[in-house]
Amino acid sequence: MFAANEDPVGRPLIEVVRDHRIDALALRARESGLEQAAEVELPATARIVQVRAVPLQDGDIVVLARDISRLRYLETVRQQFVANLSHEMRTPLAGLDLAAQTLSSQLPAEGDTRLFIDRISQEAQRLADILFNLNQLAALDAEEISVERTPFSVGDLVGSLIDRYQARAAAGKLILRAEVTADGLMALGDRAKTDQALQNIVDNALKFTRAGEVLVRASVDRNRVEISILDTGPGIPARDLSRIFERFYKVDRSRGGLPGSGLGLSIARHLVELQGGTIVAESSGGSGTTVRVRLPRQPLTLP
Ligand SMILES: Nc1ncnc2c1ncn2[C@@H]1O[C@H](COP(=O)(O)OP(=O)(O)OP(=O)(O)O)[C@@H](O)[C@H]1O
Ligand SMILES: [Mg+2]
Repeated sequence: MFAANEDPVGRPLIEVVRDHRIDALALRARESGLEQAAEVELPATARIVQVRAVPLQDGDIVVLARDISRLRYLETVRQQFVANLSHEMRTPLAGLDLAAQTLSSQLPAEGDTRLFIDRISQEAQRLADILFNLNQLAALDAEEISVERTPFSVGDLVGSLIDRYQARAAAGKLILRAEVTADGLMALGDRAKTDQALQNIVDNALKFTRAGEVLVRASVDRNRVEISILDTGPGIPARDLSRIFERFYKVDRSRGGLPGSGLGLSIARHLVELQGGTIVAESSGGSGTTVRVRLPRQPLTLP
């Protein structure tokens, strides 16, 4: 793992590993008496090693180094594969959709042929949505997405969100409303990313709720802003709650039913955590779901 050394026994650690970060890690472990860990890329060998420095009772330090280059390499290959695949598939899919739409427009409004061609178009659009999500996850994985950290009004954000979904809620006979409990509430983060995360959550609430209402509530929770989306839908069983933020995870996949690929919430989590926020889901099965997003709050400035 480390550049060869004639006879490492008895030499100072730094001479053997030739990396000041590893040496510093061992020192910190000795000084604090606590285990230290870090991932270090060794410039000499281009290897990535996971290093742990563990203090023993007699004052000695054990330094464990594990070569994880292969693991990191495979992760990168996987991410690039998904990114390339989703990118390459977008153009042919758009062509397919366009062809179907053109054909459809030339057919009479009624009849099986038109029905099936419209179906092709709808499914192509669903696939395009999945690819868009996959592509975005790939970009998030590759840390290609930058985040802003600027103050923005939570009231405005929630207001505009509600406006955009009002028609869809009405079409589903659902009540969609906002409740902003603090005036002039400001969050510190990325407005566009927060908006997208909230869209994914509201989309779920409207999709899974059969009757009743969806409430978007904004409030202050100590030094954080909290935006909760509450619905009166079927709820999420306790055993699934911790997993719904995983990629492709859907509750009771076998039931089929509602469209979606299980990517919306994993993207929402990424977008919120990028800003130093947190996201959790709560449900007492059968009686609605609450998803809470907490973001750093912009401290009040006195005029
Ligand atoms: N408000 C909700 N009420 C009930 N179940 C929910 C709710 N939100 C999420 N879920 C469950 O969590 C799963 C994951 O949600 P997610 O948004 O990630 O995926 P999706 O909505 O199925 O697909 P996509 O968002 O990619 O279109 C859903 O399939 C659903 O089973
Ligand atoms: Mg969703």
